[in-house]
Parts: sequence; structure tokens; C-alpha cells
Amino acid sequence: MMQFQLIPFVLAALLNRTENNGWEHGPEYEFSGFLKMITSLEKDMGTALGTGVYFNLTCRPREPDVLRCQLSNTTITRLRVQAFSIDPAETDPNDTPRVFSITKSPFEIKFNERGIESFITERKDAPIPWSINEIGLIASQLSVGIDSSDELGSSYKSVENFTMGECDFNYTITRQTIDEDSRGTRDFSLSPLGKLEKFSGESIIVTKERDFDGCSRCFEPFFGSRYTLGLLLRDVITKLKTSTSRIFISKQHFTSETVNESEVFDTNRKMLGKILDHMKLTLKSISPAEEKLSPFSEPFVFGGLVDIARMAKP
Ligand SMILES: *[C@@H]1O[C@H](CO)[C@@H](O)[C@H](O)[C@H]1NC(C)=O
Ligand SMILES: *[C@@H]1O[C@H](CO)[C@@H](O)[C@H](O)[C@H]1NC(C)=O
Ligand SMILES: *[C@@H]1O[C@H](CO)[C@@H](O)[C@H](O)[C@H]1NC(C)=O
Ligand SMILES: *[C@@H]1O[C@H](CO)[C@@H](O)[C@H](O)[C@H]1NC(C)=O
Ligand SMILES: *[C@@H]1O[C@H](CO)[C@@H](O)[C@H](O)[C@H]1NC(C)=O
Repeated sequence: MMQFQLIPFVLAALLNRTENNGWEHGPEYEFSGFLKMITSLEKDMGTALGTGVYFNLTCRPREPDVLRCQLSNTTITRLRVQAFSIDPAETDPNDTPRVFSITKSPFEIKFNERGIESFITERKDAPIPWSINEIGLIASQLSVGIDSSDELGSSYKSVENFTMGECDFNYTITRQTIDEDSRGTRDFSLSPLGKLEKFSGESIIVTKERDFDGCSRCFEPFFGSRYTLGLLLRDVITKLKTSTSRIFISKQHFTSETVNESEVFDTNRKMLGKILDHMKLTLKSISPAEEKLSPFSEPFVFGGLVDIARMAKP
């Protein structure tokens, strides 16, 4: 059995092999992900419209607490939606996906026990602030944020001192029995580490819901695809209303998603409508990496600006 860090401090990947033949350079994890935006605006008479950014994310463990990742195949396309809901939102077959560039350069995510500590790139590839934000939003889906004193069935309400001010959130850890066989078998299994270890067994679902109505102030967190296909005009003001994050972990599956609902206003504070943002990251496969990984020669470090699951205990 070979063991590798999938998400430092949280989740390991076990490969059913006794010798590392072909795996000398460690594993490469392949995730696929998207960020869908669904709008319901007065100018469209409330008709729901949507855009989706799709991407592949590959990551390799470089150090026990560092993942080296790279985005590829980042495209944006219109969605065909039936309602102001995340469910029936599929890519519109009449639209051609366009390239949506974020960054092609590799970047590292450095974790600590609480989540993401910082990001690192090669200095010559130092991303522009816009890309840093996008990387942070995508990477934040890899932050689980479980406190060591949390019990299964843990469910509590707390206040979080967030960038947005003090916000209420509800937090639950539940377990669900699923039939893994019916979902296909894979050549790896996932094993919870550290704080999550005591939840081993069946699947684990960590849910975190935030309600921003009670928050003292608001900022505008959003993915950079807001205005790309013209559904929204520039310079709207976004007011985040609710945010729900859900992380699902089982022996063979890892998915992490966040759904945010916001209201949008023009600069005169007239309400224009509402928006749903749905970001999801899914582990697709684990394969042997093809080349040796060396540390960056001139590392450039920037802050871990988002941490979806960071929490303050009551
Ligand atoms: C790459 O992303 C696309 C779109 O999200 C997805 O359909 C595909 O399965 C991904 N490829 C891999 C190897 O994850
Ligand atoms: C990117 O897309 C190409 C063509 O669809 C595919 O062959 C490749 O595997 C994708 N890259 C990743 C990392 O999934
Ligand atoms: C949140 O942070 C502010 C400013 O740093 C501080 O005044 C306040 O007491 C903090 N609230 C909590 C609940 O920690
Ligand atoms: C938290 O749970 C309470 C009781 O179930 C509910 O009334 C409240 O709306 C929830 N808050 C959030 C932020 O989901
Ligand atoms: C969703 O809300 C969270 C706060 O819960 C925020 O950190 C994140 O940036 C938001 N995501 C998007 C895509 O707007």
C-alpha cells in the first residue's frame, strides 16, 4: 500500500500497490471543476440566464504540506437554465466555449492545520491580483477546516470574524451510507487524516451555511467571470446574502462545492436582481506523475486570502 497526501492534514490517497514501479515521482491528482453563475434580473424580466467557467486542475504533493497545482482547459460558455436554481444548469449546446484565461503557470498551495496558509509561484510567473483572486477562490474548495473537538453529528451555530465582518454560520458534520460499488470502483481509496480520522468508515459530509443578513459589513467576493459574457453590466454592487459550502468525502470520492446567493444593485443602489454562484471541484483520477518535482528557484509567496471553511469555535 502506498500512501500520499491528497489534501494535507485532511485526506490521504492510498494506492493498492506494494512497489513504486512507475510511481517514482509520486501521484498526480486530477480534478475537474466549474463555476456557474445564474442570474435573475429585472432587465431580463426575471428570466434565468447563466454562464459557466469549466476547468481542469492537476495537483501533486511536493512536501507533506504543499501541493503543486496547475489549471488547464479553462473555458467559459453560456448555460441553458430552466429556473433560478443550480440544478438544471447545463452548457448551452448552441454556444461555443471560449478560452477563459486565469493562469497557466504552476502554483503551490501551502496548507496548515486550519486550511490554506499561502500560495507560492515562481517569481517570474507572479500572477496579477486578478489571477491571485481566482486561484484563491478555486483553491479554497480544498480547505476543509474541521476542528479537533468536532464530533460526528456536530452541529452548531457560531459567529465568524470574517473579512465581511462578524457573521453567523451553522456547521454540521454528518455521515451517510452510500453504495460505493454502484458508483464504480477505482484503483485508489481515500483515507481521512488527523482531525478527520475519527470519522473514517462511511462517507463524511461537512456542511457550512452562512447567512450574511446579520453581518456588520459586506465586501464583494466574486469570480472574475461576472461580466464576461455580458449578462451583467460592469460596476454592479454585489451583496452576498447566503453561502453554503458542502464537502463530501468517501472511500473513492471527494467533492467540494459552494453555493452563494447574492443581490445586485446599480451604483444608485437600485436593485437589479439576484445571482447564484455555484463552484464545484471533483476528484477525477490519480495517476503516476511523469517527472521529478523541484522547488521553485525563486519563490514568490502571496497570502491565503480565502478560506471557505475557517471557523471560530463558540
Ligand atoms: C476536464 O474538465 C472537463 C470539463 O469540466 C471535464 O469534462 C473533464 O472530465 C476534465 N478532465 C479531467 C481529466 O478531469
Ligand atoms: C484538456 O483537454 C484536452 C482536450 O479535451 C484533454 O485531452 C486533456 O486531458 C485535458 N487536460 C486535463 C488536465 O484534463
Ligand atoms: C472581530 O474582529 C474585530 C476587529 O478585529 C474585533 O473588534 C471583534 O471583537 C472580533 N469579534 C469576535 C467575535 O472575535
Ligand atoms: C441555522 O439554523 C437555524 C435553525 O435550524 C436556522 O433558523 C438558521 O436560519 C440557520 N442559519 C443559517 C445561516 O443557515
Ligand atoms: C462565496 O462566499 C464565500 C463566503 O462564504 C466567499 O469566500 C467566496 O468568495 C464566495 N464565492 C464566490 C464565487 O463568490
